[in-house]
Amino acid sequence: MRQKIVFATENEGKMREIRLILKDLDVELLSLREAGIQADIVEDGKTFEENAAIKAREIARLTDAIVLADDSGLEVDFLGGEPGVHSARYMGYDTSYCIKNQHILDLLKDVPKKQRTARFVCAIAAALPDKTLLTSRGTIEGIIGYEERGEGGFGYDPIFFLPEYGCSTAELSMEKKNELSHRGKALRSMKEKLEEYIG
Ligand code: IMP
Repeated sequence: MRQKIVFATENEGKMREIRLILKDLDVELLSLREAGIQADIVEDGKTFEENAAIKAREIARLTDAIVLADDSGLEVDFLGGEPGVHSARYMGYDTSYCIKNQHILDLLKDVPKKQRTARFVCAIAAALPDKTLLTSRGTIEGIIGYEERGEGGFGYDPIFFLPEYGCSTAELSMEKKNELSHRGKALRSMKEKLEEYIG
């Protein structure tokens, strides 16, 4: 029987990205909805890794499958690493990204380019049926731009600028973003670890 992997997300966009990257793993990949799992998990870890592990372990109690979970966010150096693990709830879950992004731009008003460094971080945890926990991390370095740019992506993408590409991550195609992104890197690294495990 093919090994089952449940990815702890209800986000269909994320699931599409994950299916694309993991497509040649010989496994049945299910979202939480597809696995019929409902869970309300408090992500109160201090690091991305801790939050991903909390999610993966909690869901693993409800299924025999391998459970993958991720946690990601934006670290702005000038803001001491904020919003960081608070990225989704920064200024409140229901506050629009237009407002969140403008707030960060305002906080960095007049801050020179050298001090505008930032990164997206993604940690992925895999809880295996034998209770082993695997983790991986991916990052993408950039700077906070001076205005919102681009219509693609989501969240903080319009203010996250990649100097070597001359554009924000909201201006990249989905394929290019997958290739460069924190999530793409963390997923490809996790894929290698799982290949060793699944054989
Ligand atoms: P999650 O852990 O994947 O749910 O992401 C937490 C939050 O980090 C998101 O709600 C976004 O605010 C931010 N974030 C994570 N990845 C990205 C990205 O690729 N682009 C823009 N924002 C992101």
